[in-house]
Amino acid sequence: MLATRALREGLWRIGRFQHTLIPSSFLRSRSAMSSLEEPIALDSLPSLDGVGRVQRFSSGACRPRVGETEMGNCLIEGRSCSSSNNCNDEYKWRRQARDMFRGDLTSRRNSRLGRSQRVFESAYDPMYSQERHYSSSCNGKDLRDFANKFLRGMPSFVKIVEVGPRDGLQNEKGVVPTDIKIELIRRLADSGLPVVEATSFVSPKWVPQLADAKDIMGAIQNLQGVRFPVLTPNLKGFDAAVAAGAKEVAVFASASESFSKSNINCSIEESLARYRDVVNAAKKLSIPVRGYVSCVVGCPVEGPVSPSKVSYVAKELYDMGCFEISLGDTIGVGTPGTVIPMLEAVMSVVPVEKLAVHFHDTYGQSLPNILVSLQMGVSIVDSSVAGLGGCPYAKGASGNVATEDVVYMLHGLGIKTNVDLGKLMAVGEFICAQLGRQSGSKTAVALSKLTADASKI
Ligand code: HMG
Ligand code: MG
Repeated sequence: MLATRALREGLWRIGRFQHTLIPSSFLRSRSAMSSLEEPIALDSLPSLDGVGRVQRFSSGACRPRVGETEMGNCLIEGRSCSSSNNCNDEYKWRRQARDMFRGDLTSRRNSRLGRSQRVFESAYDPMYSQERHYSSSCNGKDLRDFANKFLRGMPSFVKIVEVGPRDGLQNEKGVVPTDIKIELIRRLADSGLPVVEATSFVSPKWVPQLADAKDIMGAIQNLQGVRFPVLTPNLKGFDAAVAAGAKEVAVFASASESFSKSNINCSIEESLARYRDVVNAAKKLSIPVRGYVSCVVGCPVEGPVSPSKVSYVAKELYDMGCFEISLGDTIGVGTPGTVIPMLEAVMSVVPVEKLAVHFHDTYGQSLPNILVSLQMGVSIVDSSVAGLGGCPYAKGASGNVATEDVVYMLHGLGIKTNVDLGKLMAVGEFICAQLGRQSGSKTAVALSKLTADASKI
């Protein structure tokens, strides 16, 4: 009922994309809040106005016959489904996964890292495409056009920036012991991730969880081949980071005035002035500086954030010398409907190859948001192992998109990452065991069930 009401609310459309941004109730309810700690209300959900037209599929919808089956006006051949709800495609997937598992038993016995070591190859495997023989036309349109349309322009390699040790652990209620953090970083580096954001040189009064930043940096100096940027909110943090051995830093501005004040206790303009000092100091030492923009589609206080505010802050950071700009949906309210116009605005002032996306998964929208970002040419994605994360000054925001889920999707699209998914899953198991919680990665949960089932066969 509430959600339906929200869908009927006044809708804010953006230019030619004609997508709903965020219902006006979202703005009203957020601005009425006195605290950042209140969760976002159900009737304030951002939505696309096309939702009402989503067709529901009954159980019978999964019953195309062998040979050819009509779906709308499209003929789809060679797809065979049982009469139950469980489509044979799923059965084939399980059977193939089991066969892959069996074939690898011997090597698994020698595995150092346990059952998560197995890497499951993607659904993009030619094995799958060979089984699907689509007819070449649908409504007179060549079906191969769809693959061209949706996959053309996607990068062949995506750089994943792992933010778990910083964005993840900064939000833990308890303080994770320093040696566990160091082991986490070491294992993440060993999984093939090219960049692991290690910690923050912020005020320990504001973020006590990361008060051991100096010790962390000291302990990872000997790790080669991986970059370990750290967050620095001002010159004091920058100097401390450099003294501790940091070779790359990140500054973090916000597109929302209220969030800037609650997160770093200053206005957007004041923060940009501080960051100019940091970037100038970094230039003298040839230290690369990454720039974050937070709240790129929504703010926990102000509600929707306009793309022009995001592009303004992104351009300022880029112009002052940040080598890469990460666009953060800090509270995870974005959908492709809001992310596309935001990216379009930023891409008009910062080259797309300099942009990263940083999604929190509060509404489960991270993967579709990443997908549209890739389609728009973005090739750098921030994520957090096991979906750890959040921001202590944006309560209600959930963890970052899980790195395992991002890697699974990218490999499924045939996009390289250099990340070993099996090793990454083992890292997720390690940190979840330390924190005493379930992984926030659906991929990790599903694949560990699959391997557990297969080991019983
Ligand atoms: P302030 O209280 O306004 O600063 O904090 P101040 O200059 O008045 O200093 C107050 C005290 O802090 C002083 O100590 C300073 O020396 C000390 P005292 O005299 O009281 O003993 N201080 C520092 N100590 C260590 N390191 C420093 C530092 N600076 C000052 N660098 C400040 C201003 C920015 C420091 C504070 O607000 C702060 O540390 N904020 C950090 C908040 C934070 O880390 N938030 C989470 C990260 S952002 C994020 O999660 C978003 C992101 O993931 C992207 C996304 O998701 O969208 C990046
Ligand atoms: Mg974040």
